Amino acid sequence: MLIPRNVIEEIAQRNDILEVVGSYVRLQRSGSTFKGLCPFHSEKTPSFTVFPADNSFYCFGCGAGGDVITFIMKAENLDFSAAAEYLANRAGIRIPTGPDTRADSMPRKRVYEINLAAARFFRDNLFDPKTGQAAMRYLTEERGLSMAVIRHFGLGYAPNSFDMLGNYLRGLGYSTEELQKCYLAGISQRTGKPYDLFRNRIIFPIIDTSGNVIAFGGRSMDDTPPKYLNSSDTPGFKKSRNLYALNYARKNCAESMILCEGYMDVIALHAAGFENAVATLGTAITPEQARIMARYTKKVIISYDSDAAGQNAADRAMRLLGEVGLEVRVLKLSGAKDPDEYIKKFGKDRFRLELEGSKSGFEHKFISIIAKYDTETAEGKIKAAGEVCKVIADVGQSVERDVYISYAAERLGLSAESIKNDVERIRRRRAREFRQREGREVVSAAKYFGDKVNPDAAKNVAAAAAEEVILGLLLLYDEYRYAVEEGEIELSESDFFTTFGGRVFSCVMELHKSDEGFSYAALGQYFTADEAGRIQSLIRKRSGLDNNIEILRSAVRTLKEEKAIADAERSGDKFALIRAKREKAKRGQQ
Ligand code: CTP
Ligand code: MN
Repeated sequence: MLIPRNVIEEIAQRNDILEVVGSYVRLQRSGSTFKGLCPFHSEKTPSFTVFPADNSFYCFGCGAGGDVITFIMKAENLDFSAAAEYLANRAGIRIPTGPDTRADSMPRKRVYEINLAAARFFRDNLFDPKTGQAAMRYLTEERGLSMAVIRHFGLGYAPNSFDMLGNYLRGLGYSTEELQKCYLAGISQRTGKPYDLFRNRIIFPIIDTSGNVIAFGGRSMDDTPPKYLNSSDTPGFKKSRNLYALNYARKNCAESMILCEGYMDVIALHAAGFENAVATLGTAITPEQARIMARYTKKVIISYDSDAAGQNAADRAMRLLGEVGLEVRVLKLSGAKDPDEYIKKFGKDRFRLELEGSKSGFEHKFISIIAKYDTETAEGKIKAAGEVCKVIADVGQSVERDVYISYAAERLGLSAESIKNDVERIRRRRAREFRQREGREVVSAAKYFGDKVNPDAAKNVAAAAAEEVILGLLLLYDEYRYAVEEGEIELSESDFFTTFGGRVFSCVMELHKSDEGFSYAALGQYFTADEAGRIQSLIRKRSGLDNNIEILRSAVRTLKEEKAIADAERSGDKFALIRAKREKAKRGQQ
């Protein structure tokens, strides 16, 4: 069964890897990762690691690795689609059956046209007292929205009917098949008839920065789950590349943007005059969204829900936003579960004060660590200091580390020197562990022999090593994928020495060039679980190392030289062989 790409991504996103793996392995937090005893080989010290930041796992002992789907493939011994199905059930995601209903055959313009017609239909129904009275009362009385705000956001109401929208749109000349592709209609398995997907829901149209209606979010009016139903990805819409209300916020965010979790938070904030608020679309923030925000603003204030889930999500957001160079601040609201409720309870002026008092990412982490311990006791203070040192040790820049060291020293009443010593010790230990791991990998270059995943690697270790560098960089960073796509780096599948390397390369680039762009989750369907482990090892080896385009360029050169020699050897062309060897020697002298 071919599972549509957007569904695979949804499955990977909505199944939290810590929860899934956690039911097989006892995991313990270790810095920003989690460790446990590997379920795939026997070991006494944990080398099985989960990376919640990118939803992946890797065992440094046996090389098993991948994402949550790969994990289930291995743990339950299923093939890719069976594992995906298992996880879809777990998260309540329906895998569409029958003909491919993805809208890839449909022009974007047509999608936008249909969505606009649907948005008008939803709006008219909200304003029609016959169908929309209860919905209007909910929005104005229960949620406290003014008519102006309701109009500003184009809110609507999907009537409690199975065919009103469908009939209306078909009347305008759009086919049922087109409605399916736009995620507005489904086909009943029982009767074979089409039905409206959004029923009895408040509708939030999602509008891109060019003003197109690209999707809808629908909040249940009668607590029928799911609480929110969202359009899945279509060619006009990819959740991971859009933000709710960015069409308005982009005009008001020269100074800063406020990032929240919910549609209603954004609307409440805009209504209160904070027109720089945006939200992700029912998913955790993605690197693409972080990059988009960096294009519009310099500073992001994260204002997530105050529950534990919101605070965990804030940790991830802090890291992703920091990585794209944004100044990050975090707001932890108390006395209300989210910004919407906060403003209703305490008013906008107090929210503004909260914004002004928002903490830097480090202060925020520091405060949440301190809150866990009684720092009046010696023991509590030692434990808190230990955790704080670990957080500081994660910071790459030494100047930044120094700032945090003096901050922490002052608050904890300890000397900056002793904190600094501890931080440096942690950093030295981590560097040592990293080198040892690398060392182990080098020794096991012998492991290339008898390598089932990549049998060609043993024939030319230099070429195989160059391929690892290249693939690691391409898997991790889209700027290098663009560099290859645009020909800034000349590289094609035929340049690869190993068949496996060539296959990974061509899959990565195919996905990159597709409408939906590259995603790690989508890669899984083309590889076995063991191959997925190898791909994960390429990513793990590369992350945390230096990267720049020169490293890529030089690895590509090495690969091409080695490949030229190998090709010449195979063809028996002596002159070609001499030429190829001379080329390689020439660069060796430079
Ligand atoms: N969300 C979702 N699917 C769900 C629940 C939530 O896509 N089943 C997304 C929606 O984008 C929602 C956001 O997560 O706006 C935050 O969820 P939640 O805090 O539960 O909802 P609120 O937006 O706060 O809605 P309300 O204030 O009406 O409870
Ligand atoms: Mn809410």
